[in-house]
Amino acid sequence: MAKIRVIFENGDPERTVEFDPADAPFQEDGRPCSVLDVLLGHGIQLEHACGGNCACTTCHVVVKSGIGKLSEASEEEEDLLDKAPGLTPTSRLGCQAVIEDPDAELVIVVPRYTINQQVSESGR
Ligand code: FES
Repeated sequence: MAKIRVIFENGDPERTVEFDPADAPFQEDGRPCSVLDVLLGHGIQLEHACGGNCACTTCHVVVKSGIGKLSEASEEEEDLLDKAPGLTPTSRLGCQAVIEDPDAELVIVVPRYTINQQVSESGR
């Protein structure tokens, strides 16, 4: 089984998900077995304003451990990540980073801030 431990910078309680990548997709948004797919499919909310289509940065996560277990970032993903607030050398877009190793163990941090036009507009 693969495992993702999720730490939320906003102070929400940590969550851990165990899953078999062979069971992906777990729901409809993002690439099958991407971080977004796994989290949403296990009841863990991650922003995904564009529906997991590599067209926003709201699914930005910071990979603290296990980055080598994820698929390579495409040029499109890298370009988008450049616009993500709080970018780090181990940042990825959750909808594009696919877990390929069935024994992968990852630790990811969900940053406190994302740029989500819809939230910032409705929040006014
Ligand atoms: S959900 Fe928009 S880029 Fe991942």
